[in-house]
Amino acid sequence: MRVDVLLGLQWGDEGKGKIVDVLCPGYDLIARFQGGPNAGHTLEFDGNKYVLNTIPSGVFNPETLNLIGNGVVIDPVIFKKEIDKLRENGYDPIKSGKLVIAKKAHLILPTHRLLDAASESKMGNSKIGSTLKGIGPTYADKIGRNGLRVGDSMLPNFKEKYEKLRDKHLDILSHYSIDIDYKEYEAQWFEGIELLKKMQQVDSEHLVNTYLKEGKKVLAEGAQGTLLDIDFGSYPYVTSSNTTTAGACTGLGIAPSKIGEVIGIFKAYCTRVGGGPFPTELDNEIGEELRRIGHEFGATTGRPRRCGWIDLPALKYAIMLNGVTELVMTKADVLSGFEKVKVCTHYHWNGEKIDYMPFDILSVNAEPIFEELDGWNEDLTGIRETHQIPEKLMDYIKYLEKALEVPIKYLSVGPDRLQTLVLS
Ligand code: GDP
Ligand code: IMO
Ligand code: MG
Repeated sequence: MRVDVLLGLQWGDEGKGKIVDVLCPGYDLIARFQGGPNAGHTLEFDGNKYVLNTIPSGVFNPETLNLIGNGVVIDPVIFKKEIDKLRENGYDPIKSGKLVIAKKAHLILPTHRLLDAASESKMGNSKIGSTLKGIGPTYADKIGRNGLRVGDSMLPNFKEKYEKLRDKHLDILSHYSIDIDYKEYEAQWFEGIELLKKMQQVDSEHLVNTYLKEGKKVLAEGAQGTLLDIDFGSYPYVTSSNTTTAGACTGLGIAPSKIGEVIGIFKAYCTRVGGGPFPTELDNEIGEELRRIGHEFGATTGRPRRCGWIDLPALKYAIMLNGVTELVMTKADVLSGFEKVKVCTHYHWNGEKIDYMPFDILSVNAEPIFEELDGWNEDLTGIRETHQIPEKLMDYIKYLEKALEVPIKYLSVGPDRLQTLVLS
């Protein structure tokens, strides 16, 4: 058996949570492999809406085991809030044993959050637009070999280790003029640690590989999007992990030869939250219309998302980096009613016409070159069968499949679980 990977092909918020929830009945294990509470994955079913930050999106399926992998970073405060919220709604994945966590996953300390804020406070106009959850500083400590891990919480000298790292952070923070108030958060943090200690802490590499050996089906759930990847995204306007398929190998402990299908998700248009280049951005009433109809406001921070037309050079790049074998297009319903739908096929860049993302995209603007397709007017949110798909939308799908050279297997026409069509 191999691990299928599901990940975002744009700048995040493509609808990963919804699609994992739809696909999870076919899987025994759903495993998050990177990122942390910077993610906000939204699921809707039976008239309810849930937003998950650290917990995998298979958590509502009673049959599926959910794993928070070693590549994830965890804020115990946010994690406890997520669990409390699930419990309020009648789900207790810890009690049911359907949620386990990797001992090797790193912990976000209260002072990591302050370091994130301190770093952004010095950036002026070139702010990354971080979610300020402490993601960058936590991964920096991991790579710098200073981090604390979930499994450390069981050690007798955990508090000592914590204080040592916290004091190191406080020393750095004393050079910044930001409000260093961490005591209240620290108290909550230790409550969260108590919850983590009650959970089943595992070695994700053994768990996942045992599942594969036993012939069980595993789906790795990505967070953020390919264009936010630390190596291949629009650096430095990226997140601090590998959001691409390779991240599933290191973030769970699986060999590259064990990767199966790679399911790439993209919106029928494009969005981005935070700073950084966005060639097809629509800083006009069409962009506002997309934001309004698509409710394009961050699931984690509530910030308005920047909106634009679909970007084929960026999507082709993402497909190449991930080895995508099948595609999912979400939010097609949001484009209903636009007379014309534009597709960016190339960029004008430095006097040339190119169809890739240039290294220098930060210093030299990439001007999008568009092709225009006819739009469709029909409301898609009620359609459940492929024969109900409007002809012009079908033309859009066919156009994209031809350009991207990968089949679009699923079409999402609304936020609810049921608003999903399988295209064959
Ligand atoms: P994720 O981070 O990739 O899981 O995506 P988010 O949950 O942050 O953002 C996607 C948003 O779009 C959420 O509010 C979803 O409920 C919503 N959504 C997902 N698929 C569709 C769709 O096909 N149509 C519409 N209108 N909304 C969708
Ligand atoms: P999901 O999983 C969209 C963006 C932030 C910022 C940059 C760095 O819901 O798709 P960080 O907090 O990681 O230091 O922020 O990355 N970002 C996201 N944008 N969706 C996300 O996650 C994101 N996680 C981080 O807005 O520009
Ligand atoms: Mg999101």
